[in-house]
Amino acid sequence: MKEVAIIGIGMTKWGELWEQSLRDIAVEAALKCLEDAGMDKVDAITVGAMSGGLFNAQEHLGPLVADFLGQKFVPATRVESACASGGLAVKTAYMEVASGLAETALAVGVEKMTDVDGGEATYALATAADQDNEAFHGITFPGLYAMMAHAHMKKYGTTREQLAQVSVKNHYNGSMNPHAQFPFKVSLETVMNSTMVADPLRLLDCSPITDGGAAVLLTTVEAAKKMNRPYAVITGIGHATDTIALAQRGDILKLAVVEEAAHRALKMAGKSIKDVDFAEVHDCFTIAELMVMEAIGVVEVGQSGPAVMDGKTALDGDFPINPSGGLKSKGHPVGATGVAQVVEAVSQLRGESGKRQIKNAKIAMTQNMGGSGASSIVHILEARS
Ligand code: COA
Repeated sequence: MKEVAIIGIGMTKWGELWEQSLRDIAVEAALKCLEDAGMDKVDAITVGAMSGGLFNAQEHLGPLVADFLGQKFVPATRVESACASGGLAVKTAYMEVASGLAETALAVGVEKMTDVDGGEATYALATAADQDNEAFHGITFPGLYAMMAHAHMKKYGTTREQLAQVSVKNHYNGSMNPHAQFPFKVSLETVMNSTMVADPLRLLDCSPITDGGAAVLLTTVEAAKKMNRPYAVITGIGHATDTIALAQRGDILKLAVVEEAAHRALKMAGKSIKDVDFAEVHDCFTIAELMVMEAIGVVEVGQSGPAVMDGKTALDGDFPINPSGGLKSKGHPVGATGVAQVVEAVSQLRGESGKRQIKNAKIAMTQNMGGSGASSIVHILEARS
């Protein structure tokens, strides 16, 4: 297999993008990425999107994006793994280049979720849960993660304040991200008094409904070296699956899928979590970020709440998490999220993240998750110049 580098990144502003269609958003992100890389032609395209059908009545996104991007005849594939579709797009682009099938491969993540109303968006998202055993009975993703939060609070003594601190931290980081949907700071009190969504999770514990796109361009390390500018190398990939239904999981307090994916990615990179400088993780709900911290080994099981309160995962902490603002502040256009995590990681590794730049960032982890922990994709990226 060839060594693979990321030589271009791009993303749109995230939020409610009333004036842009699904294809406009995907193409804008892709064009920004190609401009960043200084390229106008690619050998392969992978589009990560969860549900163009339910959100926009538009499937067949591979050719749609290739066509409007001016890449006629280029092989283009749409991949899906619920909210981990973006991470899967990056993995697929990696395989195109690593295998030698393509010299350059573009991964585009996109979702336009605000074309439907809140109820329809919740229905579309819930199709990623177990239809027979969960969604049919009315359970939603806020409901599933609320159950995990209750169990975590009961078993480990995790508090309401500790959940809220995840949101405070991520909104603080997101306040410095011009692409974020909600680029403002929030206080502990604001989070704890926000509208109840699914007890104990309140509005400001939840990722929002978002329109947005992100793209990354991959090529061989050999080709990247000739560009004479900083780039990132993908040194590890871990992809795992687990039970789709929460009730069928042995322990709902363990995100085994994340543990497995992180273990595989770190093993492939020849690293341990102690070597990693920061991570972009899947904080679809505040409890998810706490459980991911435990699964990737940043803290002992049950210790994530106190660690967040102590500032361990703050921008200037021992192990910064979600410098971009995460899903909570930056937004969560489901299929785009995994690609945007890689965009942030590369921007940090190139030292281009402005006010939210992490000092001496050399090794990054991105962790993207599908459903309530049914699928996860982890990447390890390293800075090179
Ligand atoms: N964070 C911060 N503000 C939010 C927000 C969020 N997550 N969601 C909505 N808002 C804001 C809106 O901008 C709006 O503000 P305004 O009144 O100033 O315009 C206000 O809150 C109400 O917005 P609305 O769209 O009516 O909220 P809602 O009650 O329909 O939806 C949630 C809120 C939390 C239910 C919805 O965002 C949601 O379902 N999130 C989870 C998505 C999800 O499950 N993703 C998959 C994860 S696995």
